[in-house]
Amino acid sequence: MDQIVIRGGQRLKGRIPISGAKNAALTLLPCALLTDEPLTLRNLPRLADVDGFGHLLNQLGCSTTIEGSRPEDFGRVMTARATTLTSTVAPYDIVRKMRASILVLGPLLARAGEATVSLPGGCAIGNRPIDLHLKALEAFGAEIELASGYVKAVAPGGRLKGGKFTFPVVSVGATENAVMAAVLAKGTCILENAAREPEIVDLCNCLVAMGASIDGIGTETLTIEGVDRLHGATYRVMADRIEAGSYACAAVITEGDVELVGAQANEMDATLAALRQAGATVEETKTGIRVAMSGRAEPVTLSTAPYPGFATDMQAQFMAMATLGSGASLFTETIFENRYMHVPELARMGCDIDVRGRSAVVRGVDHLVGAPVMATDLRASMSLIIAGLAAQGQTEVNRVYHLDRGYERLEEKLQSVGADIERISAG
Ligand code: UD1
Repeated sequence: MDQIVIRGGQRLKGRIPISGAKNAALTLLPCALLTDEPLTLRNLPRLADVDGFGHLLNQLGCSTTIEGSRPEDFGRVMTARATTLTSTVAPYDIVRKMRASILVLGPLLARAGEATVSLPGGCAIGNRPIDLHLKALEAFGAEIELASGYVKAVAPGGRLKGGKFTFPVVSVGATENAVMAAVLAKGTCILENAAREPEIVDLCNCLVAMGASIDGIGTETLTIEGVDRLHGATYRVMADRIEAGSYACAAVITEGDVELVGAQANEMDATLAALRQAGATVEETKTGIRVAMSGRAEPVTLSTAPYPGFATDMQAQFMAMATLGSGASLFTETIFENRYMHVPELARMGCDIDVRGRSAVVRGVDHLVGAPVMATDLRASMSLIIAGLAAQGQTEVNRVYHLDRGYERLEEKLQSVGADIERISAG
C-alpha cells in the first residue's frame, strides 16, 4: 500500500489551488438520475469517491463521460446521462465502500417510483444511522421496508406526494436525500430544520438549474414545489471549503503564508474565525484567501456544530494545529460520538491530548517528533499530515487511500508551497 513520507519543518509559502468540493460533488452526481437529459458537472475533483460514484451511476444505467482526465488537469468535467434507468438497486458491495451511495435513494424513488439500497452500516466515526433519511421520504408518501440489509422504498402510484417533515436533528445527508426526492413529487414538500451547509445550497442551485422549484435555499425551511419533469443542465461544483481549511491549518502550524486560490470566504466564516482565534492573519484576496502566521498558535476553544457553526470535518485538523500551540485548547465534538480516532496517532508524535467523552484538552508542546502513523478516516489522516509538516524528522502516513478519497493531489499541492513530502508507491 502507498505511503506518504514527510520530512517536517518547512515553512509553507505560495499559492494552493483549491479543488471542487468532494461533499458537493457526491450530492450533485446523483441528480443525474432525476432526468433523461444530460447533466454536466464542471470542476469535479479527481478523487476515488467521485470515480466510485460514477461506477454506481453506470450500474443504474446512467452513462458517464469524463473530460480533462489527463493527469495534469485539475477540475474534471463529467457528463452523466440517465436516458433510461436499467436498475434501481444500489448493491451492498458498492454502498459499504462509499457511504455517499445512500444518496441515490431519493433520486431513484423520485424518478422510478422505487429504490433498493443497501444499508451503509456503521463506520469509523460512529454509528451514522439513516433513520431520518427514511422518515423524510415517508413524509412524502414513500413506503419503506427493511429486509436482508437493504432498504426497499416504493412510491405508491409511482410518484411521491407533497408533505411536511421537521428534522429532529440537523442532518446533511438526510436533507440532501429528501430534497432530491421532493423535486419530482406531486404537490408541495416542506422540510423544516433542514441543514444549511453550502453543499446543500449548491445542490439546490443545481436542481433549480435543472428546472426544480425550491424556496428558502440557504435557510432552515425548504419549500419544494414538485414539477413533472426536470431537464439537463451544466453546473460548476463549489470550491472545497474543507480542503481550503485543511491547508490553512497546515500554513499556521508551519508559520507559513499561503493563498488558498479559489476558496470562498463567505462559506468559511467559522473556520476563518477559528484561524483568527489562533492568531493567524486571514484576508480575502482577489483570487481567494490568504492565511499567514508567525509564532506559535494561540490556544483555541472550538465546538463542532451544524453550519454555520464550526464543521466537524475541520475538528481533527485544528486539533493537530493546536498540538504546537502556546497554551491549552479545548475541543468539543457534538456531531459524532467517536471522532477522536486521530488522538492516539498524534500522541505517537509527542503531543499532549486528554480526551474526556466528547471533549478534548490539547496542551501545546514545544515540538513534535515524526513517527510512522495511520488513521481510520479521511479528516483524521489529514490531521496527521498537518502534524507531520511541523514535526522534527520523518513522518510516514499509512493507509493513504483515506486521503485519496478526499484530497486531490495532496502531495503535489503541498510540494508546490515548499513542503518536503512524497508518495512512496507500493508498486
Ligand atoms: C456529517 C456532517 C457533515 C460532514 C459529514 C462527513 C454535520 C451536521 N454533518 O454529514 O458536515 O461533511 O458528516 O464527515 O456536521 N443522524 C441521525 N439519523 C440520520 C442521519 C443523521 O440520527 O438519519 C445524526 C447523526 O448520527 C449525527 C447527526 O445526525 O449525529 C448529523 O449527521 P449527518 O449530517 O446526517 O451526517 P452526514 O450527512 O454524514
